[in-house]
Amino acid sequence: MTEKLYKMKYYVDGTWRRALSEKSIPIYSPYDHTPVGTVPSLTNDEINDAVNKAKEQQPGWEALSLQERASYLLEWADNLQGMEEELAQLIMREVGKSLKDAKSEVNRTVDLIKYTVQHALHMYNVSMNGDSFPGGKKSKMAYINRVPLGLILTISPFNYPVNLSASKISAALITGNTVIFKPATQGALSGLKMMEALHQTSIPNNVCNAVTGKGSEIGDTLVKHPLLDGISFTGGTKTGKKISLDSKMIPLTLEMGGKDAAIVLEDAALELAASEIISGAFSYSGQRCTAIKRVIVQEEVADELVALLHEKVKGLKVGLPTEDATIVPLINNKSADYVQHLIDDALTKGADLVTGNERKGSLLHPTLLDHVNEEMEVAWEEPFGPVLPVIRVSTEEEAVSLTNQSEYGLQASVFTEDIDAAFLIANQLHVGTVQINGKTERGPDHFPFLGIKSSGLGSQGVHNSIDSMLRDKLTVLNLKSK
Ligand code: G3H
Repeated sequence: MTEKLYKMKYYVDGTWRRALSEKSIPIYSPYDHTPVGTVPSLTNDEINDAVNKAKEQQPGWEALSLQERASYLLEWADNLQGMEEELAQLIMREVGKSLKDAKSEVNRTVDLIKYTVQHALHMYNVSMNGDSFPGGKKSKMAYINRVPLGLILTISPFNYPVNLSASKISAALITGNTVIFKPATQGALSGLKMMEALHQTSIPNNVCNAVTGKGSEIGDTLVKHPLLDGISFTGGTKTGKKISLDSKMIPLTLEMGGKDAAIVLEDAALELAASEIISGAFSYSGQRCTAIKRVIVQEEVADELVALLHEKVKGLKVGLPTEDATIVPLINNKSADYVQHLIDDALTKGADLVTGNERKGSLLHPTLLDHVNEEMEVAWEEPFGPVLPVIRVSTEEEAVSLTNQSEYGLQASVFTEDIDAAFLIANQLHVGTVQINGKTERGPDHFPFLGIKSSGLGSQGVHNSIDSMLRDKLTVLNLKSK
């Protein structure tokens, strides 16, 4: 059967358009290298046009009632649900995620949009009285409204091309912002398809324009654009740091890399710990910012844990996304080369290969490395691939210190039966979230989601994403005293 070829256009002024230059970027499947489709390669003039029009539209969109904005978003969610099968197939072909995971991404997104709308509908403003501050008067009152930032640039990554796009767009739109949506090029077909579901509603023109193109050609124009009022980005740390340097004094939400540690104490329930670690480390071949990327285990139970991890790695299905494999080819060969480099470096420096280190093109078998030490790059670098280093330590203090020495600070897990120890360790970890007796992960999606240090800036999760799209606007009333 010949697969459908998606010749996508970009979206501005209520229409899907070809690039004026007719230039497009071909997208190939990461696992069978067949063409999946093309996206327009836009020029800076076309970017400017899309940005200008979205900015012009913002006051009109903000002026609509919250109920009206909500109705467009709820229709969008319903349309997305209706395209579940096609969109999941496209996600699978474009970013190599198993069909099961791709379907779950679509359904998670439908739930997320609906929840975001409901949450926004139930938010309310507060007021303050002047006399609660020393010397303040009862006659002075502040009405604190939450108003949209204006025009938001949303940039999404390849690994959740629908979910991590919609989570930003829905929070921006429901609060009265307009949006310029720029998906990662690999992932842009799925992102644009998702946009079709939004534009099948009668949402006003230019409320959410979608643009595509090479980051090296249009990235600066987008990020430095003087008409932007906020940027929400998920992607690599290098790009995120560049955005924070280039953007012009506007609120930023950045979600970037991680080096999440699973700390396993000697009293941990090892069977549970091993299951959670394997699922946390290897789903979608480890191509998740929240994947467990190192195990730090107390020496007393290290042999037993490594044996359990080994057993469970053997149970992971290696193959194609079409076969619902967990370990699938990485997004491109360059990524696989990098993971291979980390494995080679560790083995050269004396790590023990428990299992793995087999490769066919960009398909790397799940690799477990024991006796990893601080000299090895894999102890510190984020592989974004299926390699899991095990570092043995003598004390809890050592585990905390190693965790905190990372340049990243997204999440960490602590496995122990001692809840006091778990909390004491959690309190010392420099990360956004500590999971006790569970793998690191973003969801459920209404929990705050944030990273510190090189992992990010600001916070997401339904409430915080909505909050990040708003600012305070005070109206102060000075009552005349009679
Ligand atoms: O890759 C970054 C995502 O935010 C991770 O989300 O924990 O649901 O896989 P996840």
